[in-house]
Amino acid sequence: MPPSSISPLPVLPKDAQSILNLAAKSLFDVFANASEGMLLVDRSGSVVWINDQYRRYLPALGFASEADFVGQPVASVVQNTQMQRVLETGKPILIDLLTNKAGTFVVSRFPLRDDAGLVIGALGVVLFDQAHSNLQPFLAKFSLMQRELDEARTALAVQRRTGASLRQARHSFASFIGGSAAVVDLKRQARRAAQSSSPVLLLGETGTGKELLAHAIHASSPRAQGPLVSVNIAAVPETLLEAEFFGVAPGAYTGAERKGRVGKFKLADGGTLFLDEIGDMPWGLQAKLLRALQEGEIEPLGSNLLVPFDARIIAATSRDLVQLVQSGQFREDLFYRLNVLPLRVPALRDRSSDIPALIEVLAEDLAMRGDLPQPEFSVQAVALLSAQNWRGNVRELRNVIEQLLLRSDTGLMDAPEVALVLRESGLSQVLPAQMQVPNSQLSVLPMASKSADALMVPLSQQVEALERLAVAKALEVTRGNKAAAAKMLGVSRAKLYLRLT
Ligand SMILES: Nc1ncnc2c1ncn2[C@@H]1O[C@H](COP(=O)(O)OP(=O)(O)OP(=O)(O)O)[C@@H](O)[C@H]1O
Ligand SMILES: [Mg+2]
Repeated sequence: MPPSSISPLPVLPKDAQSILNLAAKSLFDVFANASEGMLLVDRSGSVVWINDQYRRYLPALGFASEADFVGQPVASVVQNTQMQRVLETGKPILIDLLTNKAGTFVVSRFPLRDDAGLVIGALGVVLFDQAHSNLQPFLAKFSLMQRELDEARTALAVQRRTGASLRQARHSFASFIGGSAAVVDLKRQARRAAQSSSPVLLLGETGTGKELLAHAIHASSPRAQGPLVSVNIAAVPETLLEAEFFGVAPGAYTGAERKGRVGKFKLADGGTLFLDEIGDMPWGLQAKLLRALQEGEIEPLGSNLLVPFDARIIAATSRDLVQLVQSGQFREDLFYRLNVLPLRVPALRDRSSDIPALIEVLAEDLAMRGDLPQPEFSVQAVALLSAQNWRGNVRELRNVIEQLLLRSDTGLMDAPEVALVLRESGLSQVLPAQMQVPNSQLSVLPMASKSADALMVPLSQQVEALERLAVAKALEVTRGNKAAAAKMLGVSRAKLYLRLT
């Protein structure tokens, strides 16, 4: 084609300054078009302008209108902003990740200078936001890590300041082992209670799993992301309990408490407060606790200000609260306030069908913690453990299993080992119905058992078990008279002795 038909190529200005001005304008246009939002601050750090795209972040940042946002110091309206730093150092931050209430963003920040080169403001550019860019997985991961870091820092700071045990619930309903009708029913009620915000009262003997259940209720409640704060009322000296609950206002005391202390009620804000051993609450504090529960406000020691709190209450006790009310040791009004959703945790002896599953789970857990091999329990060993009275309930069962694990070289647990540990733990032994023979003879399976497992052991053992059972019964009837027992069974005394050893 003849050269004359080509339209002339656009040309750059000749002088460098004009080129720079052009480049600056082009760059700005690129940023303005590509960015997800722009914000300008003046020398003092106040927001002076935002563009249309930036405006859509305002609701998430907590502002209804642009007029509320513009004119404010940037640090007070955009959390974690670094604009102030750009103003102070005069250096740009070309690329950075910013997380705040509105999300996580890739941002750039530039100082703006006047003709004399002095910093007169700064421009912030949102390059990518979470929802619209293909950096989304990366940004989501970063914001999750940032959030977890913030939570960990907050928890640590609270712990340092107060010495409190602030922790997330460790257990869910799945950790509460048991498939007996009593447990299935309990879990159903507890799941329902978890959805309510009313106080829950956990009643049951020692070691039945009340604390475990409190954790599970918290973990499946709408407050699961909030803290679970526990106070064991029986373990805190009476004189310290009020400060522990309600906190201490700064300056109320000298010494260690000079700076004040946050109480457990306040620490549990947004979460659950677990009041363990509520039956041990001193009378004097019961009225204050009642008032706090009724009003939703607490009064820290040494202050006359009422501070609102937002904590869901779960209380537990192994004591008979009704009886404590009757004997005047527990306030009736507080009892009714707490007794809104009472849950009775059954004793282990009333749900012995759960014991085999508990043995398995507890043994596995203990073995893992102690770095020991996974133990195996014989059918007889399980039968013997299942027959016990377990006054200390699951805790006591756990202790016995732990001792068995520590003593065993082989990892195989049979009835004699179990019998020995039960005896040495000072437990009055209860033999399974099928095993009513003297302790020393516990090694074989019951014959009278209808379970298939019980009939699957060698016949010689089953015969031996029956013989031992018969000898034991005959000795019981003859009050230990061996000659009479042998005669009753039609065997020689020698044979009877054989079955005694
Ligand atoms: N159903 C269960 N499944 C698994 N472990 C359980 C169960 N119930 C209790 N445990 C375990 O038994 C031990 C005692 O439980 P927990 O401390 O919850 O009992 P508690 O009712 O609070 O006792 P106390 O009244 O003495 O404080 C804990 O190690 C717990 O994990
Ligand atoms: Mg407890």
